[in-house]
Amino acid sequence: MSQKALVLEKFGTPLVLQTRPIPEPKQHQILLKIIAVGLNPHDQKIRDYGIIINPDHLPYITGNDIAGVVENIGPDVTAFKRGDRVFAQADTSTPDGGGTQQYTVVLADLVAPIPRFLSFGEVATLPTIAMASFVALFHPSGLGLPAPYSKERESFDYQRHNLLVIGGGSNCGKLAIQFARLVGFGKIITLAAKTPEKEAELKELGATHILDRRAEDVAEQCRSIIGDGLLYALDTVNHGPTAHTLGVSLLSNREKGTLATLLPGGVDESKVGNKAAGYEVKFSQGSGHLHRELGQEFWKHLPGWLEVGKIRTLRYRTINGLDEKVVNEALDVYRDGGSVMKANVHPHESS
Ligand SMILES: NC(=O)c1ccc[n+]([C@@H]2O[C@H](COP(=O)([O-])OP(=O)(O)OC[C@H]3O[C@@H](n4cnc5c(N)ncnc54)[C@H](OP(=O)(O)O)[C@@H]3O)[C@@H](O)[C@H]2O)c1
Repeated sequence: MSQKALVLEKFGTPLVLQTRPIPEPKQHQILLKIIAVGLNPHDQKIRDYGIIINPDHLPYITGNDIAGVVENIGPDVTAFKRGDRVFAQADTSTPDGGGTQQYTVVLADLVAPIPRFLSFGEVATLPTIAMASFVALFHPSGLGLPAPYSKERESFDYQRHNLLVIGGGSNCGKLAIQFARLVGFGKIITLAAKTPEKEAELKELGATHILDRRAEDVAEQCRSIIGDGLLYALDTVNHGPTAHTLGVSLLSNREKGTLATLLPGGVDESKVGNKAAGYEVKFSQGSGHLHRELGQEFWKHLPGWLEVGKIRTLRYRTINGLDEKVVNEALDVYRDGGSVMKANVHPHESS
């Protein structure tokens, strides 16, 4: 049995359409008919620079945010059956596990049912960005805070603490704000482009203070809200040799604070102030496959959080069909910068 797939044959070249075999699900795997796959900035970075993936894994299939219908299950899968509507994050460490194809296999313990009232397209906006912000907040490779479902959360006074999210306007930032509200942080301060619409949106998601990221005195504004007590910050957007200077400078000077980041970068020590108790910067990776235990809990709880409206899906546009030109252009928008509307590809539609 064969299928259509958009494949990366060589780094720095466009994705191309190929015919590929439909895989067989192994023991704990599920074969999915993909209805929608969400594209992310890293799909462009994989295509153009080969980040994250092993060069031995070329040809490679991109697209991590998968929503579809269970077509077949491996012999050890009991939690799902043929016809179930599910969503999942693809495993970037396998060459053909991605979503820009018509069928793929996913691990049964990193899959969740789609709430009845949500569409395939809506949930395909979430897996990578939700996992990335979840890992950055709740895994020891990030801020290591007590997870929403954990025993430790009962004795952790979230209300007493504040969270700074640099990049609230990014999709990862929007999810981080929602998770921060879910656990009950006191103040949730975010730096984003400040338009009335954006401000209203971020407030709706849970931000208590939105500061204009382009304001010259943004650091002073932030300190006037949080004083010197900030222990937890997350930067979802900045990268480069001195990219995390602002985030670190806003951490407490007298207590040890931590800045989690979704992109690697450095700090200009001369501009962060006197951190008497030190500080930490932690770059975390939002993969449920890499952080399996946290990933399993995430997928177990995500549908419930969606059901009660604690986590919301994001805005997106749809690309019908595995159209080489249109999908590569959607990735080019990430490369060229500017404002990006998240795109979902529907691999079974005709373009
Ligand atoms: N480590 C991981 O596992 C992981 C996982 C997912 C994503 N990422 C990376 O995280 C980054 C964000 O991903 P995404 O999907 O959330 O991107 P996105 O939604 O496309 O974010 C773009 C938005 O970020 C905001 N922004 C840009 N520069 C900023 C700055 N200097 N300060 C504050 N806000 C700024 C802008 O919004 P406003 O103009 O509205 O402020 C911009 O529209 C990407 O580079 C991606 O590759 C990493």
